[in-house]
Amino acid sequence: MLITVSLFSQTSTSTIVKRGPYLQSGTSTSVIVKWRTNIATASVVNYGTKLDSLFKNQTNKKQTTEHEVLLSGLLPNTKYYFNIGNQKEVLSESISGDMYVVTAPKVGTDQFVRAWILGDPGTDNKSQRNVRDAYYKYVDSDSINPGKTDMMLLLGDNAYSSGTDEEYKLAFFDVYDEMLKKSVAWSCLGNHDGYTADSDTQSGPYYDIFTFPKKAEAGGIASGTEAYYSFNYANIHFIILDSHHSSRAVGDAMYNWALSDIQNTKQDWIVTLFHHPAYSKGSHDSDVEDRLIEMRENFMPMLEANGIDLVLNGHSHSYERSYFLNGHHGFSNTFNANQTTKGGNIVSENGNGDGKINGNGAYKKTNIDTKGAVYITTGSSGQISGGELNHKAMYISLNKLGSCVMEIDDDGKGGQNLTVKFLRDNNEIDDYFTINKSNITVKPEIEKEVTKSEKSFIAPINGLLTININPTEKLKSVKFYNTIGQLIKESKHNKIDVKKMELGTYVLEITTDKKTFYKSVLLK
Ligand SMILES: [Fe+2]
Repeated sequence: MLITVSLFSQTSTSTIVKRGPYLQSGTSTSVIVKWRTNIATASVVNYGTKLDSLFKNQTNKKQTTEHEVLLSGLLPNTKYYFNIGNQKEVLSESISGDMYVVTAPKVGTDQFVRAWILGDPGTDNKSQRNVRDAYYKYVDSDSINPGKTDMMLLLGDNAYSSGTDEEYKLAFFDVYDEMLKKSVAWSCLGNHDGYTADSDTQSGPYYDIFTFPKKAEAGGIASGTEAYYSFNYANIHFIILDSHHSSRAVGDAMYNWALSDIQNTKQDWIVTLFHHPAYSKGSHDSDVEDRLIEMRENFMPMLEANGIDLVLNGHSHSYERSYFLNGHHGFSNTFNANQTTKGGNIVSENGNGDGKINGNGAYKKTNIDTKGAVYITTGSSGQISGGELNHKAMYISLNKLGSCVMEIDDDGKGGQNLTVKFLRDNNEIDDYFTINKSNITVKPEIEKEVTKSEKSFIAPINGLLTININPTEKLKSVKFYNTIGQLIKESKHNKIDVKKMELGTYVLEITTDKKTFYKSVLLK
């Protein structure tokens, strides 16, 4: 039970906390604490590892009502209690110790991780609260890791119907207040958030409320925008895409950034979230709607080729969970369950099974055979909207309220299990599955080198970059894009002088007389 005390006297000039505190952009050494007050004041966060001795503090002297304080230099995997206020007074604290941040483990660490996944939650109704309460009950009564929620993953449409500031107050802050004070929230943009927010200008309530790492502050490659970004947590790499406003075209900025980003990561697990589902026959149809089709046709081949494990979407207000897929990029009538186990789309012996350890067995991946991903549309955290719910790529489709719980844990055999459960509003778990990855060296607190995955990049030798193409093809052009999609250089030659180029990561668009393909290059 959260007991938060707001300390203020009943005069008209008292400073009152109107929103928060809530946690953003957590890493193994830092976190951002945000809150709002009615009167502009300085911002102070007092913090420490003991509840009764919050002797460290971080102060921003600027007078503001929108407080944003970066705590840095923290220890990994460490619980810090905190309170907030200004230079004169503490405005909000938790005497029961339910206001805290547990910093992320060092990047690469293999340890138990739990994420709470909410899709299209922002209805501000009883259904939303029942889904929330079911999770709180689940996590509090868990026998092994009680109370542990390492992050909230929001799949967009967090506040109906237009993502206004007031709607965010009612459907987001008022509903999840208790969790937002102790768990870092991450999100992708939903179409309803997008009515009042704009990705190009990074403006509107969604972009004001959230602070995401656009400069790779939490790992990955800098995207230069909060519309899409990535972060590391333990040995997981998360890629957040904007399926609503940003161009979904191959070769455009988001695609080029995502390609560089996924090729750059050495993390054991790769999870992506975006709002519009690649496969759905719920309240939205992935055979009909452009954004859904484009995400599937443009992004899935690239993400699958680079080892994506789990794809989380919302938008359709239902729960639809796929088999272990690879290479199904067409319309639903082209799906053939046999192709998940045979032919060109081999994913594993259990590809079209249920993925349950106590059923047909977990889906299996190794570091060498990285094919196979599970796609989940879980947009029923605030309402259900039905639909045909008969997409053939789905193992199960349910018109039920609920949220998802992702848990990654040691498999006892030198690998890990990634398990996702669909937790209904009535506390029942109606679906679950596991992806097992072997050959993960389970050594807690060992920091892996999170440097570039060299083999996936072309590297220049003595400042000269050699473009290797199929000998039967003729090179037409090579275009260099930076990670925010600007065309930096163009060439028609197989050997390109890159000595004068700024260091960093670029995406090359290589066009021959037969095809166009993309490669990352790292200049260092
Ligand atoms: Fe939506």
